[in-house]
Amino acid sequence: MKELKVQPIKDGTVIDHITPGNALKVLKILGIKEGANSVISIAMNVAGKRGRKDIVKIENRELDSKEVDKIALIAPDATINIIRDYEVVEKHRVSIPDEIVGIVRCPNPNCITNSREPIKSKFVVVSRKPLKIRCYYCGREPDMEKIESMIE
Ligand SMILES: Nc1ncnc2c1ncn2[C@@H]1O[C@H](COP(=O)(O)OP(=O)(O)OP(=O)(O)O)[C@@H](O)[C@H]1O
Ligand SMILES: [Mg+2]
Ligand SMILES: [Zn+2]
Repeated sequence: MKELKVQPIKDGTVIDHITPGNALKVLKILGIKEGANSVISIAMNVAGKRGRKDIVKIENRELDSKEVDKIALIAPDATINIIRDYEVVEKHRVSIPDEIVGIVRCPNPNCITNSREPIKSKFVVVSRKPLKIRCYYCGREPDMEKIESMIE
């Protein structure tokens, strides 16, 4: 039986296996808010083969690599499924690079990346499960519970 709980989309993107509860953060990262005019479906806390998950389906939208890297920070097990003519034509697992550059604003107001200097934010990955990152410049380790509010 096909696992389609909502109306299928013809072309677009399905972000599947999102950490349960984080679908709205994914929408925020993608800049989707009220007034959006494409078809968007959200499922939260649905049963998947490996436990609960959230799913976001967006019609007529493909994601760029920076958006995918942002999603990885809050949904490290997500898959990005490209839908064309109702079929999954590509499936990618998101991945967290060893260095996260230009994606997370350092929460330390005194960090050089928050000064007038033209220096891009840079975090190194301290641990992957659970995800912990550390600012390359000031050593601050952001609270990962609030990471979506630090995404640039
Ligand atoms: N045309 C479509 N419209 C909307 N959602 C779709 C469409 N086709 C597939 N999906 C959804 O995209 C996701 C991936 O589909 P796929 O058929 O690859 O499922 P799967 O084999 O269970 O994949 P996985 O192993 O990654 O869980 C599923 O959540 C599925 O419901
Ligand atoms: Mg599945
Ligand atoms: Zn810093």
